[in-house]
Amino acid sequence: MEHTIKVLVSEEEVNRRIKEIGEQISKDFAGKEIHLVCVLKGGVFFTCELAKRITIPVSLDFMSVSSYGAGTTSSGVVKIVKDLDQPLEGKHVIIVEDIIDSGRTLSYLMDMLKKRNPASMTLCTLLDKPERRVVDVKVDYVGFNIPDEFVVGYGLDYDQKYRNLPYIGVVEV
Ligand code: IMP
Ligand code: MG
Repeated sequence: MEHTIKVLVSEEEVNRRIKEIGEQISKDFAGKEIHLVCVLKGGVFFTCELAKRITIPVSLDFMSVSSYGAGTTSSGVVKIVKDLDQPLEGKHVIIVEDIIDSGRTLSYLMDMLKKRNPASMTLCTLLDKPERRVVDVKVDYVGFNIPDEFVVGYGLDYDQKYRNLPYIGVVEV
């Protein structure tokens, strides 16, 4: 079934903002190397575009997680579906996410990854829904704060579809 999708953030706006964040990260970490940790699958489009806009040395790794008890008010325990290939020890790690909603996934993930002794750990998300926050997470770089609406595109899916849209849209039901 096809849905009508209303543009919330246009392709131009998304690309402009990602370029800005890339420049900011390059400045903030000047003289260092950074290690981008992409949270699959949603974070993959943002990670690639961001990485291209960073002018300091970058390495990349990927992990995939799934929440236990999706749709319930779970404890926020996430299952690692695919772990990172490389250690984080001594690295300046930037976690790259598509969206922060309740904050449960990221809060759990960051606590777990901090135990691997990175030199630093910062969080970068394309989208943030601050109204929806249940668990407090410190977000260092945010593309856009958005209202409490279900969005798709730029990596975000509705039933695994629409990840490939080059803009952020709201599914009209
Ligand atoms: P959290 O643990 O509640 O912060 O969950 C965040 C995860 O929920 C994101 O990584 C997305 O996979 C998913 N999610 C939250 N809001 C949306 C949305 O508006 N569209 C698509 N996926 C979403
Ligand atoms: Mg996600």
